[in-house]
Amino acid sequence: MASRVFGIDFGTSSIKIYKKNEGVIFDEKNLIAICNGQPVAIGNEAFQMLGKAPDNYQITYPVKNGVIADIKNMLLLLNEAFKKIEKKYGKITGSEIIVATPTDITEVEQRAYFDLAANCIAKPRNVKIVNKPVACAIGTGIEIMNASGAMVVDIGANTTEISIMSIGGIVSSKLVPLGGNDLDRAIINNVRKKYNLIIGDTTAEYLKKELAFALEPEHLTAKIYGKDVLSGLPIDMVIDSEFVTDTIKESLDLLVDNVKALLEKVSPELSADIIDSGIFISGGSANIRKLEQLFNRETELDIHICEEPSDNVVKGLGIIIEEGGKYNAVAFAANQISHLG
Ligand SMILES: Nc1ncnc2c1ncn2[C@@H]1O[C@H](COP(=O)(O)OP(=O)(O)OP(=O)(O)O)[C@@H](O)[C@H]1O
Ligand SMILES: [Mg+2]
Repeated sequence: MASRVFGIDFGTSSIKIYKKNEGVIFDEKNLIAICNGQPVAIGNEAFQMLGKAPDNYQITYPVKNGVIADIKNMLLLLNEAFKKIEKKYGKITGSEIIVATPTDITEVEQRAYFDLAANCIAKPRNVKIVNKPVACAIGTGIEIMNASGAMVVDIGANTTEISIMSIGGIVSSKLVPLGGNDLDRAIINNVRKKYNLIIGDTTAEYLKKELAFALEPEHLTAKIYGKDVLSGLPIDMVIDSEFVTDTIKESLDLLVDNVKALLEKVSPELSADIIDSGIFISGGSANIRKLEQLFNRETELDIHICEEPSDNVVKGLGIIIEEGGKYNAVAFAANQISHLG
């Protein structure tokens, strides 16, 4: 592989880009701010504008539920990201781009990821698609080429991808439209219901990160600011971990149910492998405290929470890129490699 090889994970909440020989060189919110048809900010800078920008700014996430919902803005965002990368790391054109995409999506949705990479300003010589569960498993350190079956659960912002891998391939995969954002939304709704307090997405995410437990919360508190429903005036309030844990319980139970449903479908041979290897959990939402205990209690399997779980997919792309041909047979299906000229 040439030296200009990029691996991209277009997540719902963040976009992460790996560059060969450099590592993860871009990790920012997958967000774009548009004013009068022009991009004025992307990534973390656009995130800072959320809830504060004038009415003529549109600040949007182009990826929703694991698929590109807004291809025009996603391309604008990707081009701006590549401009930043070019400034810092030099020439980007004539590169190779490897994109991780969910498995359980339509061909048209997958094609959109391909077209996006093919048409960006890096003008790639070729674009390859890797299934996210494969990148995720490699990022987790699972030796996916060996015959043993393994289950990988990636709990992101908008989606949870539950996959069973065996002999280098994906045996079964389900993309569940449920992730960390749903927990944030539940917190917003419940804070309003119980405390008559209106809070924004950022505050809800802060509460989740500070106070959420998957079960049996330790007693913790956090002070937040919001608007009183009745008076409309800004007020502060102290929220505790018991409240937040209770609020997210329903969504987490739903996730566990989905994992159990997929487990029930696997062959006895694969079940034996999974009993041996356990379940690997990645994605930013794997950071929720005591998630390991919840899954262990509900499935009676060993649970491995990945280190830096939100980087798992892009780290997997990095390993595929750096190890050259080692993963060619399993990472790229023949119909997922296109040479662009
Ligand atoms: N410490 C934490 N505790 C709880 N949730 C966290 C923590 N850190 C990050 N998250 C959540 O992880 C989610 C982001 O995870 P990740 O980066 O894997 O998502 P993504 O890849 O962009 O999304 P998706 O895979 O759904 O397209 C957000 O919902 C964020 O709030
Ligand atoms: Mg993700």
